[in-house]
Amino acid sequence: MKILIRAIVSFFVFIVDVAYGKRSYARFYLLETIARVPYFSFLSVLHLYETIGFWRKADWLKVHFAETWNELHHLLIMESLGGNRYWGDRFVAQHVAIAYYWVVVPIYMLSPQYAYYLMELIENHAYHTYDDYLKTHEEELKAQPAPQIAIDYYRDGDLYMFEEVQTQPSGEFRRPNVDNLYDIFLNIRDDECEHVKTMEMLQKPEARQTFKSPHSILESRHSALALKPANLDEMV
Ligand SMILES: [Fe+2]
Ligand SMILES: [Fe+2]
Repeated sequence: MKILIRAIVSFFVFIVDVAYGKRSYARFYLLETIARVPYFSFLSVLHLYETIGFWRKADWLKVHFAETWNELHHLLIMESLGGNRYWGDRFVAQHVAIAYYWVVVPIYMLSPQYAYYLMELIENHAYHTYDDYLKTHEEELKAQPAPQIAIDYYRDGDLYMFEEVQTQPSGEFRRPNVDNLYDIFLNIRDDECEHVKTMEMLQKPEARQTFKSPHSILESRHSALALKPANLDEMV
């Protein structure tokens, strides 16, 4: 099954690469429109499961919503760069997105693991797409200003949703630079890396019991720390 999923993703990537060629922003606009769709599918199914009392997993809902919010901001950045300028590009992206939503819903219902594997491959492709773009367009990107929407999302706005997509193994949330367009593409690439890591974590058999959102992990760490000094004081 994993081989089939890999083949489908490779085929789709090939078609997009051939069709869009050097029209990078239009290609990124398409990829970002489609990239957020599976999170919407996951949320829909999880909502349905809660509604019918099947099972409840608030942390999964939180993280998947933060991921759609993150992808939405990638999309808004691409739109601010003109990626959605042409009617044809919008038409293709929107229709593929609707079809893709209905493809992912039954896959997620049948096997969350396979749906997360599919998403891991797509996020991994997104990471490498942006990584290549950074390497080949460094000078050009460093000479251009950061879009305001990106500055607000990564630095000046409420950072809760941005933090909620960060796996932060070091315990620190990322506080990235937003000085120019290069920084923004770097941040988008790093977000895609976080998505890959989250998709890997969610495929583990114990994920239903163990997976927590970054803020839930932080809250439990804080409560553990708050308990420790008090106990130590009592002992002294
Ligand atoms: Fe993205
Ligand atoms: Fe992503």
